Amino acid sequence: MQAAAPFQLVRATEADIPFIMETERLEEYDRLVGRWDEARHAAALNDGRHAYFVAHASDKRLGFAIVRDWASPEGAAMIKRVAVRQPGKGIGRALLAALADLVFEQTSVYRLWLGVFPENLRARRAYEACGFSAEGVARGSAYFGGEHRDELVMSLLRPEWVARKQGGRRG
Ligand SMILES: CC(C)(COP(=O)(O)OP(=O)(O)OC[C@H]1O[C@@H](n2cnc3c(N)ncnc32)[C@H](O)[C@@H]1OP(=O)(O)O)[C@@H](O)C(=O)NCCC(=O)NCCS
Repeated sequence: MQAAAPFQLVRATEADIPFIMETERLEEYDRLVGRWDEARHAAALNDGRHAYFVAHASDKRLGFAIVRDWASPEGAAMIKRVAVRQPGKGIGRALLAALADLVFEQTSVYRLWLGVFPENLRARRAYEACGFSAEGVARGSAYFGGEHRDELVMSLLRPEWVARKQGGRRG
């Protein structure tokens, strides 16, 4: 079993919006992840459909994740956006593993899914490390920067998450 994640994944508040906006605007992320303005984030944070989380280490915030359709009646929640401040150091997979635990422990969701730009291999590897499987490419599904871009759809189903927990693996 891996050591506990070096952070706590907690529900974000409006006070976290500047951190989230700064993170999604990191220069190298401009082709990888969407960006919302403050009003859009504030609306989503309070709309009951989205759940915002921030990873807090002792002295700083490491990253964030936004889940859409939290506790969806259809049982399908989506990771709308995720980003960490320092990629490639194992923080993202730990954050995603902790996020999957929260979703499956706190809701009755059956399917946790996301869309990732197929060329974003780092993100794909992080998702795979947490048990997500690639399902196929949704053509032109993301309207991003004025362009209709393909997305690779990936998902983790509850029985797969349970099997991973029973196997003692955590991302
Ligand atoms: C996606 C993201 C949250 C993943 O978090 P992370 O901390 O970087 O991921 P990790 O370090 O835990 O894992 C990255 C994996 O990709 C691999 N990797 C790192 N850089 C890579 C690269 N340039 N190409 C391919 N694989 C790469 C790592 O080796 C690791 O795989 P492994 O554990 O099998 O060795 C983070 O990279 C991020 O914030 N990216 C920018 C925003 C983004 O892309 N969000 C996702 C949109 S769908």
